[in-house]
Amino acid sequence: MSKLLETATKIYVVVLAAGAGKRMHSALPKVLHEVAGRSLIRHVVDTAQSLKPEKICIVIGHGAAQVKQSLTAAEITWVNQAQQLGTGHALLQALPHLDVDGITLVLYGDVPLISQDTLHKLIHVSASEYLTILTAKFADPFGYGRIVRDPVTSKITAIVEQKDATQEQQDINEINTGIMLVPNTLLHSWLPQLKNNNLQQEYYLTDIIDLAVKAGLEIKSFEAEKKWEVLGVNSKSQLVELERIYQTNYAFNLMEKGARLLDPARIDIRGELQCGSDVSIDINCIFEGSVILGDSVQVGAHCVLRNVKIAAGAIIQPFCLIEDAEIGEACKIGPYARIRPGSKLDSQVHIGNFVEVKNSQIGRLSKANHLSYIGDSTVGQNVNIGAGTITCNYDGVNKYRTVIEDDVFIGSDTQLIAPVKIARGSTIGAGSTITKETPENQLTLSRSKQVSISNWKRPEKNK
Ligand code: UD1
Ligand code: CA
Repeated sequence: MSKLLETATKIYVVVLAAGAGKRMHSALPKVLHEVAGRSLIRHVVDTAQSLKPEKICIVIGHGAAQVKQSLTAAEITWVNQAQQLGTGHALLQALPHLDVDGITLVLYGDVPLISQDTLHKLIHVSASEYLTILTAKFADPFGYGRIVRDPVTSKITAIVEQKDATQEQQDINEINTGIMLVPNTLLHSWLPQLKNNNLQQEYYLTDIIDLAVKAGLEIKSFEAEKKWEVLGVNSKSQLVELERIYQTNYAFNLMEKGARLLDPARIDIRGELQCGSDVSIDINCIFEGSVILGDSVQVGAHCVLRNVKIAAGAIIQPFCLIEDAEIGEACKIGPYARIRPGSKLDSQVHIGNFVEVKNSQIGRLSKANHLSYIGDSTVGQNVNIGAGTITCNYDGVNKYRTVIEDDVFIGSDTQLIAPVKIARGSTIGAGSTITKETPENQLTLSRSKQVSISNWKRPEKNK
């Protein structure tokens, strides 16, 4: 890969994001719509940050407050463009923040998939000296600014907008992606000179090409190798198109590293998914936040995993929702299990169908296989929790913990009224309501004795 920079020139990034995005037909500012669970602007800022620039300026206008608020964690220089008078006017607003000793990379808030690699290559071509345009060749260039080249030298002579293009220029399929690098000294001299004497009465950033040509400066270009990187989002259907491209790329990347996806078209990663060797993922799973799957983990169909770490050999059966939790080695979860935040399962734990676990630790080899709620509990090793067991952790005001020590057996349909402790080796008879600590190694039950009434008759219908 090309080196980031041959010289020590500072890179300034300006992201243009003031436009309204009318074609989204949405109250949400366009750049806050999401691809892969991240806003469009966040994608651009993350990539920009990876270049370690001197400064990142974002030009905002429509929905400015909301856009600003969505990026509070990042170090951003915010620039307001009250009226959207064109891309040249937008960049002009950022000019005071662009010191003359650097070079500015112009990015678009609605072009989210541009990669660090392509930007590196663009920076390399510019040699931190030349006005350099990222171009692309589109079979259907309609709507884009066309790159006009000298027929003999093939040097760039102009960029003409769709609306201003002649018939002949409209046939050019090399387009301006909008992404470019411009030395700041040139921006300082050119931007204030831009005029809006065109059909749209906008200050076109692309008019700096004219100024460069007039000054006799060579304009460089780099053609994007992957066209999808430079696609912009203007509508909901383009948003979903980019979503699919992103997901397909991610899926193939996982497979190249050895994961087995039963269908790469039916997986969604909205964050980061790390897979050990021989991981297998069935269809329609969603991974959110940071998900780490150890070696040989199997994830069944239709699971949602959010910020979870799953150790080697664990099997997640279909239809599970697991969030902010840790699953130990060789655990067996599901089908239809819900593991909620703060849960940590040791190795070889079994959590079966319709079992909910919340904010609980469960020791190795313990099992809760059917229809239970385990909340705010500490469960030891080798514990068997019978079907329908409920830890009653909430009295309507406060929450309390349940402690179940090693080798406990809890009969079905038991309520454990927290705070309560079930001591080591206890057996709880089915159908019990346990309110007090149980003694070790004894059978505890709390149910009335079974009686049969011999002369009892079923009621009869009144006449
Ligand atoms: C622009 C380019 C065109 C290129 C295309 C690529 C110009 C004149 N034209 O056209 O050559 O092919 O992008 O997608 O530059 N914005 C502002 N403030 C403004 C106007 C725009 O911040 O006053 C922002 C928008 O939010 C958007 C970006 O700049 O993120 C592009 O603006 P848009 O109006 O969509 O430019 P195009 O007409 O598509
Ligand atoms: Ca556009």
